[in-house]
Amino acid sequence: MCGIFGYTGSKTNAAEVVLDGLKKLEYRGYDSWGVSVSGAKGKISVCKNVGKIGNATVKTLSASTIGIGHTRWATHGGVTKKNSHPHLSCDKNISLIHNGIIENYDTLREKLVTQCHTFISETDSEVAVHLVEQLRKKYDLTESVRKAFLKLKGLNALVVMESDSESLVAVSNGSPVVVGFGEHENMVASDADALTSHTKTVYYLKDSELVYVNKDTVTLFDAITGKKKSFKKIVLEHGEKASQKGEFKHFMLKEIYEQPQIITSIANDTTMPDRKLAQIIKESFGTYLVGCGTAAYACLAGSYLFSKVAKTHVNWAVGSEFGYHLDFLKNKSLVLALSQSGETMDILESVKKAKTKKATLACLVNVYGSSLFRESHYNFMVGAGPEKAVASTKAFIGMLSHLLLTSYALKGSYEDGKKTLLKASKSVKDLLGKDGIKSIKKLARKIAQVEHIYVVGRGLSYPASLEVALKIKEMSYIHTEGFAAGELKHGVISLITKGTPCIVFAPHDETYGANISGAMELKARGGYIIGVSNKDHEVFDYHISVKDALEGTIIPNVVFGQLLAYYLAIERDCDPDMPRNLAKSVTVK
Ligand code: M6R
Repeated sequence: MCGIFGYTGSKTNAAEVVLDGLKKLEYRGYDSWGVSVSGAKGKISVCKNVGKIGNATVKTLSASTIGIGHTRWATHGGVTKKNSHPHLSCDKNISLIHNGIIENYDTLREKLVTQCHTFISETDSEVAVHLVEQLRKKYDLTESVRKAFLKLKGLNALVVMESDSESLVAVSNGSPVVVGFGEHENMVASDADALTSHTKTVYYLKDSELVYVNKDTVTLFDAITGKKKSFKKIVLEHGEKASQKGEFKHFMLKEIYEQPQIITSIANDTTMPDRKLAQIIKESFGTYLVGCGTAAYACLAGSYLFSKVAKTHVNWAVGSEFGYHLDFLKNKSLVLALSQSGETMDILESVKKAKTKKATLACLVNVYGSSLFRESHYNFMVGAGPEKAVASTKAFIGMLSHLLLTSYALKGSYEDGKKTLLKASKSVKDLLGKDGIKSIKKLARKIAQVEHIYVVGRGLSYPASLEVALKIKEMSYIHTEGFAAGELKHGVISLITKGTPCIVFAPHDETYGANISGAMELKARGGYIIGVSNKDHEVFDYHISVKDALEGTIIPNVVFGQLLAYYLAIERDCDPDMPRNLAKSVTVK
């Protein structure tokens, strides 16, 4: 979704610094971009474009020590140059970038029009710059931004710059803003990854905080009262390297290859956070797992793991539906929200509602300091490191690893959980070896031009099927559906015709026999059976060898699907890191 970057400092090429910051935010997904600087004679100049940044430059902008920039993912108004940010005030002295949705923009706009403001875009964002301009007639910039912000309904972040000034003002509510502290330079961004090439020392704005930033000082205010606040900077653990592709062609592939190491380090973590999580679950009066997309499938897998390993019942829901499930929540209920970004609006909205019911909120999140992290009573980190590809891979595997360990901790046999995870890590490593990759690439070539793919499994292979189907859809745009294998004969089997690729998960557990029977039924209707199992079987037309790892087999099974999705994207000339229409963090409803 939209990205924000602002710079003020001693460098005189602010436009390039900002453009570079925007490039680091590209992975979030966007359809247009823009940069503005306060240049010669204090005039604000702007450069905007539709599409990706690519090889574009900002050479038309003058030398400057201050600038702001934005990558836009269109919500209100089409993908046009006019609608892209930064937006300017009528007198062109104020420049503004915005993330979020201004829910009351139409009424604000109507009033501003009567006050003689001229709008040039169709966006909700533009009202914010005219509001600031209107208030600036009476107040200084900080106070004008604060007062304007208080008039906005919804979850929003603004960064504002004025001509002839060396200061930026940023304010946020429910939309992330991070301040980066450098040497005679300071920055703001919607994502810490955009800052790590400059500094690892940051501060995450909390809801309704406003920050006044110039090259040597950063002053924090409570946006509601206008009073100054003290704050504590933090030093990020990961540096710039963790956010780079290195030797890999795409972030997605790099992130897939990081997975064995991530699983191993979760298993060997001597601080054992999953024991604490198990204790919180034990003490609660019912647990609800909540997530969206891939994280929702991690929740579903968690419900199987808790049942199978710990004989504990947990509920689960997708974030956007969870709000309709809240009526029974009590003050001892536990909501465990899973999210890579920690910024997914559907999750944030529903957990906020759960909090009003006095439920305890815990999160398993991959981004330190994210909105969900701040909102929760208990925070657990996934520990997968920055995930830049739009498709979630390593964060999902990290979530599964924690849920598996937690289920063993609940059962009182943490050490067995550790062993299972290490087995899963080894199985993933094998799959990533030369032979595994060769066989997946060959399969991708074989099925790259099909119209439909079906993925089936039972038990823990059911969430695996859903997740693998989602990955293939996202990456290759091939219509792919995941099903519980037992549902086939209740309707789905009518879709199978001669040659339809059917991926059948058949780990050697209690589901094996039934899965093989399902594969036979599919084959009898013409299905082309891709069996994912540690042993070949005569019903398989194509065999992918995945070593069993007890309850951890879901992990290598999903990794197979991630790799297939990746190589299908390559075969079909799709961009695996930035699939069409998708954004990395979905910060709107
Ligand atoms: O950041 P989150 O984990 O909360 O994101 C949830 C979903 O938007 C995300 O998993 C999405 O489904 C991805 N595109 C999956 O690859």
